[in-house]
Amino acid sequence: MAASRFIATLVLSLLIFLSGSTATQRKTTRGRPRQPCKRMVFYFHDILYNGQNAENATSAIVGAPAWGNRTILAGQNHFGNIVVFDDPITLDNNLHSVPIGRAQGFYLYDRKDYFTAWLGFSAFFNSTQHRGTITFAGADPLNKTRDISVIGGTGDFFMARGIATLMTDAFEGEVYFRLHVDVKLFECW
Ligand SMILES: *[C@@H]1O[C@H](CO)[C@@H](O)[C@H](O)[C@H]1NC(C)=O
Ligand SMILES: *[C@@H]1O[C@H](CO)[C@@H](O)[C@H](O)[C@H]1NC(C)=O
Ligand SMILES: *[C@@H]1O[C@H](CO)[C@@H](O)[C@H](O)[C@H]1NC(C)=O
Ligand SMILES: *[C@@H]1O[C@H](CO)[C@@H](O)[C@H](O)[C@H]1NC(C)=O
Repeated sequence: MAASRFIATLVLSLLIFLSGSTATQRKTTRGRPRQPCKRMVFYFHDILYNGQNAENATSAIVGAPAWGNRTILAGQNHFGNIVVFDDPITLDNNLHSVPIGRAQGFYLYDRKDYFTAWLGFSAFFNSTQHRGTITFAGADPLNKTRDISVIGGTGDFFMARGIATLMTDAFEGEVYFRLHVDVKLFECW
């Protein structure tokens, strides 16, 4: 009698112990400090065609609302403009440094009453350090810093996932801007 009660108590405490440990396990998985498995910083440089710089332009307005045109960004926070770009990527903030790759994609202005854009592009790397692509997508509210998603990658960045913190490093008129891109991958293969 006493033995069976002892066994029952033992089984019960074992169960409690097990359920307790799975709970802790779940908690530690969820509360795991999020450290990137790979980090990389680069800059990209965008020179927007403005009717006079065809030789140097790296991007062009390809879509404009009916009240605008494809030479100058439209009024009302450029709402409705779509820009396609093929921008050089450099490791430092110098436009004339040797590029390590290119950022290729588009941005579109999607709010009339506030300056904000949506950005979708791939960074295509072809250098001795990195070969492959990282694809980015997300809302770009043009705040001091903002995060966009890293939604995939190929080559050295196979299956990459994470976020990229963007910072406008320079902004000259509406012709040139430079973005500082801090890529933090949380999934690496
Ligand atoms: C294009 O770039 C070159 C070299 O940086 C510069 O000398 C030239 O003035 C630029 N041309 C235009 C139209 O911006
Ligand atoms: C394009 O629109 C801007 C103002 O939004 C205007 O100054 C410019 O003359 C227009 N250009 C053309 C080619 O229509
Ligand atoms: C990548 O770089 C190598 C060496 O510079 C070159 O031979 C190759 O054509 C480049 N590939 C692409 C797709 O640009
Ligand atoms: C962007 O900045 C504005 C004004 O400083 C702020 O109200 C807004 O919350 C910011 N948005 C994001 C996504 O950080």
